[in-house]
Amino acid sequence: MRDRISSPGLTRRQFLLRMARYGGGAVLGSMFALDLFAREDRFHLPVSGRAPADKNNRVIILGGGVAGLCAAYELGKLGYHCTILEARSRPGGRNWTIRRGTEETEIGNSRQVCTFDEGQFLNAGPMRIAHHHTTTLGYCRELGIPLTVFSNFNEGAYIVRAGYPKLRIREVLADMSGYTAELLAKVIKRGELDQALTTADREKFIEYLRAEGRLNPQLIYPHSGDNSELTEERGHTRGYTQSPGAVGGLGAPTVPLDLEVLVKAGYASSLDFMKDYNQQPTMLTPVGGMDRIAYGFAEKLGGVIRYNCLVNEIRRTGSGGVRVGYVDGNEGGIARELEGDYCVCALPPNLLRKLPGDFAPATAAALRDAIPSSAGKIGLQFKRRFWEEDDDIYGGSSKTDDPIGQIYYPFDNYGSSGKGVVVGYYHFGEAKGLLDDQVPAVRERLALAQGAKIHPQYPAEFENSFSVAWHRVPHNESPWTLWKDGATFDAAQKILRAADGPFYFTGDWTSDLVGWQAGAFVAAQRTVQAIHARTQAG
Ligand code: PHE
Repeated sequence: MRDRISSPGLTRRQFLLRMARYGGGAVLGSMFALDLFAREDRFHLPVSGRAPADKNNRVIILGGGVAGLCAAYELGKLGYHCTILEARSRPGGRNWTIRRGTEETEIGNSRQVCTFDEGQFLNAGPMRIAHHHTTTLGYCRELGIPLTVFSNFNEGAYIVRAGYPKLRIREVLADMSGYTAELLAKVIKRGELDQALTTADREKFIEYLRAEGRLNPQLIYPHSGDNSELTEERGHTRGYTQSPGAVGGLGAPTVPLDLEVLVKAGYASSLDFMKDYNQQPTMLTPVGGMDRIAYGFAEKLGGVIRYNCLVNEIRRTGSGGVRVGYVDGNEGGIARELEGDYCVCALPPNLLRKLPGDFAPATAAALRDAIPSSAGKIGLQFKRRFWEEDDDIYGGSSKTDDPIGQIYYPFDNYGSSGKGVVVGYYHFGEAKGLLDDQVPAVRERLALAQGAKIHPQYPAEFENSFSVAWHRVPHNESPWTLWKDGATFDAAQKILRAADGPFYFTGDWTSDLVGWQAGAFVAAQRTVQAIHARTQAG
């Protein structure tokens, strides 16, 4: 059973559909409905009252990822005495920024030490924040973390399909909307949509389609490459081989691809991702690395976080509290115990369920339904920012049907003559075997070979790399949690979002925003609220 569920073998498309189904952002809507957010403040917890002074105020938090950190921070504000037990020597969990000197040995793999230059980094986990992820952005504001734009989408980046010409994303978008508009305009002109539209509206819609698809007065997308009268007025959206104005005149526009080739190559298939609610511009990211958020919390929490403490037992006590066993690595691996009134389990479910724990049978069953997955990233340091200098690409991502899937360009130091770290691949599990289950040197070789098909400058400019395969990272063993289907997800969430005696469960995997820090934050806030409501009730 475990074997079957632990290798779901999802395609990128299936993955995205699932994340859309179980991670559609519904939780924010429902929290508004439950009025968990104050009307005037969409971010802070609408809680009042203080933790009891003499009882029920000791909370043990397992895991110092962003959910655990947030829970400790908010509980601390209310007067609870929290202790975070964190296995690593750093805060943040998957919120992990790789810099010069970062060391990591994945399970069953060779050790890596990052040799990026000072100032260069790779956000191995989260790298982008949606502009409507109010909780994540609220904490950045509260913690004083400067943000910059994460350019998620760049029309100037490339799109590559084996056996077909390398295009700029703008060329695919222009051609797809041009042909779609042309076909639709013709249908409307012939009166085939009469029931839906009045004559006047029909004309208006055709006007819209002409602008959308850059159609000529005959309602044809000018695939001959002739730059119809729209060119002068608004420019040629598809781009130029020679830009207008450089030597005078209108420039030399690029020529559309035939519709048949366009469709056959499947260029458009990777572009719908950018339309997702959670991926739309403007996206943001902390200046200098995503881990600014983790360290921002850690600074506020100080001694609340006990690093190098590996939890190995989670028990109920006779008095209704908890006793957590752990190995304290700070003193050479001493076995210790900690007692508390409540325990917030903010560990990944795939690891939590392996620990001896006094969970109710229904809780244990819900934890068993969680399916760990895989995802990987590599950071490639180049000595020259050739994507900017040679290719006019500033941020965003290029797409390919090779296993590397996509390349993300740096969102910082635009236009500098220095180096840059490119995300050489980021896949959602499709390249588990081909990339993630290889030693780092092989991943690097494959990333370079496949990336060079998009950027021939790769071999001459490459310096060093660092790669992460999340299913092999100790203390995570998965990038995010999947569920068999919607019904299983709903049933598990119903159990996991309620207290199991002194135990609470939190993290993105207990939210509707799986795979997002915003999910971890809304879940942590929910947990804090539940604990506080319980102590206030007596
Ligand atoms: N939040 C992550 C990302 O944007 C993972 C994710 C991808 C989650 C797609 C949901 C959908 O890359």
